[in-house]
Amino acid sequence: MTKNIKKITVQVPASIANLGPGFDIFAIAISDLYDSVTIEKTNNNRIELKVSGIKADSISEELEENTAGVVAEILSREFSLNDGFRIHLKKGIPHSLGLGSSGASAAGTAYALNQLYKLNLSEIDLISFASQGEAAISGSVHIDNVSASIFGGFILVQSYNPIIVHKIQPPQNLKMCVVIPKVPVHEKKTAFARKILPREVILEQLVHNVGHASSFIYGMTTGKIDIMKDSMSDVIVEEFRSKLIPGYEIVKEYAKKLNTNVAICGSGPSIVSFFDREKEAYTVLNALKEGFRNAGIQSSGFITRPDIGIRIVHL
Ligand code: HSE
Repeated sequence: MTKNIKKITVQVPASIANLGPGFDIFAIAISDLYDSVTIEKTNNNRIELKVSGIKADSISEELEENTAGVVAEILSREFSLNDGFRIHLKKGIPHSLGLGSSGASAAGTAYALNQLYKLNLSEIDLISFASQGEAAISGSVHIDNVSASIFGGFILVQSYNPIIVHKIQPPQNLKMCVVIPKVPVHEKKTAFARKILPREVILEQLVHNVGHASSFIYGMTTGKIDIMKDSMSDVIVEEFRSKLIPGYEIVKEYAKKLNTNVAICGSGPSIVSFFDREKEAYTVLNALKEGFRNAGIQSSGFITRPDIGIRIVHL
């Protein structure tokens, strides 16, 4: 089916990492926001990168400054793809909001090149190459976003070395409410948000996070969304990153009043909350936006569902 193809387009979903207690080990692919990556073989011995779409003018087309470009260069070197190719990255996922934008671009590029040049990469290879793109930009490896974008659904990282990732099908009725506050973010947001984290944790924090992360998985595998909501609690990372999101504490209080929890999406500043009933989701969406409004922060938001992961849309 993929005989001598010259051009391929893949669609890659956004993703939300951490989800409270699962720093660097939890992520979920979400519907509604996608990057599209088109790669076409050329004969000019070069890798070209063109970016269009949402906030494209603030995204570098220099290979070494873009996760897609970094992945392309690594794969090209590794597999001697010397004839050259052109990447067109059409951004549908806004960057710097904690929605896995850079991971989606990296994952899409690795996946598309694998198909185009029949590189025979396993899913673990794809995760590994895509995460090298993430690492080049964020300063350290994290495979949560790229894994969710590739596999779809919810992913749990068992280990980084070796890479072992488990995919879990989220409950059918799971919905998520994502609120995006309009706040300034650091120029190298993820790298900065990682640098400010403590290197060591105390035993009680470990017990809290492991207990909540395990309960989150229990809730997910048994379809008990109330347990998932209740388990979105982290005492290690949130304290430091929430300081970068004005209004976060107020919004968290608003969520508590509605018997739910919020978590920072990846390195922020968006926040996420889980639901099973649409009506509840809209009530919480409005309350969280009101929370930010009361803190003097404008915000926008949407309701979404888990996505099935990367797919080829054109060969
Ligand atoms: N797990 C990563 C972090 C995700 O929190 O730094 C970044 O999007």
